[in-house]
Amino acid sequence: MKNILTSPFVEEMKKTTANMYRLGWDERNGGNISYMLDENEVAQYLDTGKVIRHIPIGFDATALIGKIFIVTGTGKYFKNVESDPENNLGIIRIADDGTTAELLWGYADGGRFTSELPAHLMSHIARLSVDPENRVVIHTHPTNTLAMNYVHELDDKKFTHTLWGMCTECIVVFPDGIGVLPWMLCGTNEIGEATANKMKEYRLVVWGMHGIYGSGKTMDETFGLIETVEKAAQIYMLTAHLPRINTIKDSEMKQLAEFFKVDYRKDFLNL
Ligand code: 13P
Ligand code: ZN
Repeated sequence: MKNILTSPFVEEMKKTTANMYRLGWDERNGGNISYMLDENEVAQYLDTGKVIRHIPIGFDATALIGKIFIVTGTGKYFKNVESDPENNLGIIRIADDGTTAELLWGYADGGRFTSELPAHLMSHIARLSVDPENRVVIHTHPTNTLAMNYVHELDDKKFTHTLWGMCTECIVVFPDGIGVLPWMLCGTNEIGEATANKMKEYRLVVWGMHGIYGSGKTMDETFGLIETVEKAAQIYMLTAHLPRINTIKDSEMKQLAEFFKVDYRKDFLNL
């Protein structure tokens, strides 16, 4: 059996959480990541027949029975994942009852998965229904995206359109746009359901005055989506209070989308 601490998936979780912490997006225990793993790959590092603990998940995840995820722990700091993965991360498998998680590794100090597991697993289900290759869901609190929530309307089309206009490549990176939820109580099945509902249409969902969710096939793709939104939000926050002289026109955004052959939300442009 290979040493799990050297596995590519633990390495990716360590690198990503450290990176996000240093970007200032994940203060204290802010943020969480779930990453669906390949069972055969996990079996090279773990005896997948050995369950350490059973943890109730509090909702029906029948669509994910047998699926294995590596997930950040609740109350754990992204700052600490790199130096202590076994306490700050866990590997879980959704049990045959669909409502229990089988702990295969991690949460070594008796901890458990993120309080946002409903939003994560429901988002996985929603994304897999439209993209069978989806593997990653990231939640984080990026500073400028969050700041923008206080000064910009929380509306899918208006929020997306503003961000598309902030960096030339935005419409190419997230042509499907961004879903935006109002402020809601976090950690609940309700916010999980609302997030998943948006995830059927969007790979990015803003939680009003809280943070953002991103999803994708790989860690790089998912991180890159959020990073691009945050960069655009930064440009917005640096310029929103200044007289606007130049603007990327809707006709130019259309040109970009067509040139780079992306399937974009045509109804989000005002043409
Ligand atoms: P957890 O510590 O439970 O992952 O919660 C962090 C967070 O960002 C809540 O939205
Ligand atoms: Zn949060």
